[in-house]
Amino acid sequence: MASYSRINSLSRDQFVTAPETGCLSIVVIGASGDLAKKKTFPALFKLYRQEFLNSDEVHIFGYARTKLSDHELRNRIHGYLAQGKDASDEHSEKLSKFLQLIKYVSGSYDSEEGFSALDKEISQHETSKNNLEESLRRLFYLALPPSVYPSVCKMIKNCCMNKADRGGWTRIIVEKPFGKDLSSSEELSTQIGELFDEQQIYRIDHYLGKELVQNLLVLRFANRFFLPLWNRDHIDNIQIVFREDFGTEGRGGYFDEYGIIRDIVQNHLLQTLCLVAMEKPVSLNPEHIRDEKVKVLQSIVPINDEEVVLGQYDGYRDDPTVPNDSNTPTFATVILRIHNERWEGVPFILKAGKALNTRKADIRVQFKEVPGDIFRSQKQGRNEFVVRLQPAEAIYMKLTVKHPGLELSTDQSEMDLSYRDRYQGVTIPEAYERLILDTIRGDQQHFVRRDELKAAWEIFTPLLHRIDNRELKTTPYKPGSRGPAESDKLVERAGYVRTHGYIWIPPTLGRSSPA
Ligand code: BG6
Repeated sequence: MASYSRINSLSRDQFVTAPETGCLSIVVIGASGDLAKKKTFPALFKLYRQEFLNSDEVHIFGYARTKLSDHELRNRIHGYLAQGKDASDEHSEKLSKFLQLIKYVSGSYDSEEGFSALDKEISQHETSKNNLEESLRRLFYLALPPSVYPSVCKMIKNCCMNKADRGGWTRIIVEKPFGKDLSSSEELSTQIGELFDEQQIYRIDHYLGKELVQNLLVLRFANRFFLPLWNRDHIDNIQIVFREDFGTEGRGGYFDEYGIIRDIVQNHLLQTLCLVAMEKPVSLNPEHIRDEKVKVLQSIVPINDEEVVLGQYDGYRDDPTVPNDSNTPTFATVILRIHNERWEGVPFILKAGKALNTRKADIRVQFKEVPGDIFRSQKQGRNEFVVRLQPAEAIYMKLTVKHPGLELSTDQSEMDLSYRDRYQGVTIPEAYERLILDTIRGDQQHFVRRDELKAAWEIFTPLLHRIDNRELKTTPYKPGSRGPAESDKLVERAGYVRTHGYIWIPPTLGRSSPA
């Protein structure tokens, strides 16, 4: 097994002042819905299993409109927590203890009656802990459509705030879609902002909770290798690509309102771009990091329609909840240009698509060619630095080496850090698990600040309005393909040079698809 003992733990506590102990009430609002079942409760269970949630302190409340008993809610989520190889005795025991921590309260999203009942339950739990020395912590996870955020936030504010006399906090977690464009998003931010301080609001972009997205800061700023190379003098182009090999399956109605740019590009890919492109923050203080991300967003110039390709897969409109004349893109390639000293002239190619040939997400940094190449190897391909976010997390550097043997010939090969190989036995946490823990710890580093959100909408709103008005049309593509051929042409025009014949083979996984 590989050794990875030189671990330097950075204490997050140096940047957060919130208390870490005391009675913790986690309230999942929208507890009977899909997000809660598939993401929120499983993440909470994983935290519990690893003892990040302490049974002596924590209680979990589910709240939704559906009338359910505690037992019925527990049954509903049970199947999402007890899966596959984890079904050991220890797992089952922890699972049943975890389920016992969950209580359900039903009520509407806009009446004080329901939220007062919820507050009563929370207070009872807090009183039962009966430790008057310790502070109280209330975390509200809104697993709900944003249309009800304002009324739910108002109810929390009116009925369910932590009683301040014992200290502690009240925090809320919300998740996209934060509006549909700049004005609707700003309206939502203002409504929530009138009720809660920015320090109480945790806007999840779950890509910021992914292991390799979190690694970007360390890679870039803790390694001398990258310092001189990470700029327009050496880098030709950067791609950030998201592909899924399934369509909108069952979510057609929701998806058609939003499309791939609002669903993936404006948030997940743009947040990743910020971490790739930002300057070194003054420190790891979450505000310092977010200040630098905002500067990147503010330096992005308006999108040129000539640098956009939109696609819609054949069959998308067969979904009965999708209008027959829908122009909603299920695929988009958009080139962003950053007008600053480091990146002027370097295209950032953001590409996302549903129903494509493969499922993967990666960041591909392509370097310029070596000047005065004495090996005549340039036709073989350029150096690339690739961060494979998923699946099979990896970081690899594609480079030219001598082909082993008596002749002097060159080969495209790689230096490969594949996580499954290098970190055997280490489980990579799920994004939601990590982000909920961050919220409990009061660390906002991996959450989107209001000004970041605004800047992100400023970039994409004009393009989105042109698509909504059908000034830009989608091109059809075959499900299971690479997307519209126009996209590959655009990427080539932007300067990306594809290495033909090179295949990256993850060490422990057998052959992969061509990189
Ligand atoms: C969500 C999108 O935010 O991210 C989905 O709404 C998408 O459409 C999902 O499938 C992808 O997340 P992941 O973590 O599987 O890449």
